[in-house]
Amino acid sequence: RAWTVDTQIRAYDSASLAEAAALIRAGEPVAVPTETVYGLAADATSEMAVARIYAAKGRPSFNPLIVHVSDVDMARRLVAFSPAAEALARAFWPGALTMVLPRLPDCPVAELASAGLLTLAVRLPSHPAMRALIAAAGVPLAAPSANRSGGISPTRAAHVLASLGGRIPFILDAGPASDGLESTIVRPGDGSVTLLRPGPVTPEAIEGRTGLAVLDPSQGEGITAPGQLESHYAPTKPVTLDRAEAVEGQFHIGFGPGACQRNLSPSGDLVEAAANLFATLHEADASGFSGITIAPIPHRGLGLAINDRLRRAAA
Ligand code: TXA
Ligand code: MG
Repeated sequence: RAWTVDTQIRAYDSASLAEAAALIRAGEPVAVPTETVYGLAADATSEMAVARIYAAKGRPSFNPLIVHVSDVDMARRLVAFSPAAEALARAFWPGALTMVLPRLPDCPVAELASAGLLTLAVRLPSHPAMRALIAAAGVPLAAPSANRSGGISPTRAAHVLASLGGRIPFILDAGPASDGLESTIVRPGDGSVTLLRPGPVTPEAIEGRTGLAVLDPSQGEGITAPGQLESHYAPTKPVTLDRAEAVEGQFHIGFGPGACQRNLSPSGDLVEAAANLFATLHEADASGFSGITIAPIPHRGLGLAINDRLRRAAA
């Protein structure tokens, strides 16, 4: 496919929503915000539509996608819910939690979306634009982050345009994503959950609200999200972590007090830092500086997910 698509970027309203839904029904991928990051969504029940996602992203086809639903009943038609999954859905859906669950035998989702695995990653997002698009299209939507494979996840429509402009037909713009970090991914087990990817829903919140023990993949079944093996979120400039102070010639990303080019959160608030993270990496990468240095981020709460993304950016 030649990449000469005319990419429309449209503010989210009822007319743009109807256009986006029509494109989805025609098997095209559409960029749409969720509360975590912007996703590149397509009809999860169509192998062709899912293939167009992989193609537009330039993504290795073995890396499975998250399937988004507009209500819990839609999820129940795709995957088998265990008691732990029920408890997690009650506590955190709609929201930034993705669950990896066994596909039902008659699951209508394209094999390509789960890349041949017997499990499927499902999420009920809270963002009204994504929920309205799923409902209007009438099908679950497969949606990875809306960036070229290996790039930084987009938290604004402009990031999507910079990464996928000319490769996708349509971007629904509903402003910046509020969480700014991809969803937490867990595999519910028997009285416990394995944390496959840290994210906005923290282990403390999971244990506190469901009583389920949170295991990391090394304690659990040793399984990780396949996509976690890749170097992801990589800026084109060298990235150095844990620099308490600014360095001459480097774009310094601060956290808490201190001189820097851009501060993730002057007050040291991890939620604010997460929301600013990817936009700041985009800005640093586009700047005239030869490298990027980043202040230490505490390893608690959301800091776990922020440090996970930073380690990948520096890898
Ligand atoms: O916040 C998010 O999760 C965003 C928005 C758009 O929903 N999506 C997102 O998707 O971050 P993506 O494709 O960039 O990351 C999905 C991750 C990948 O690491 C993939 O390997 C993992 O989910 N994954 C998908 N299906 C899986 C499965 N069946 N088992 C294990 N990991 C799975
Ligand atoms: Mg991604």
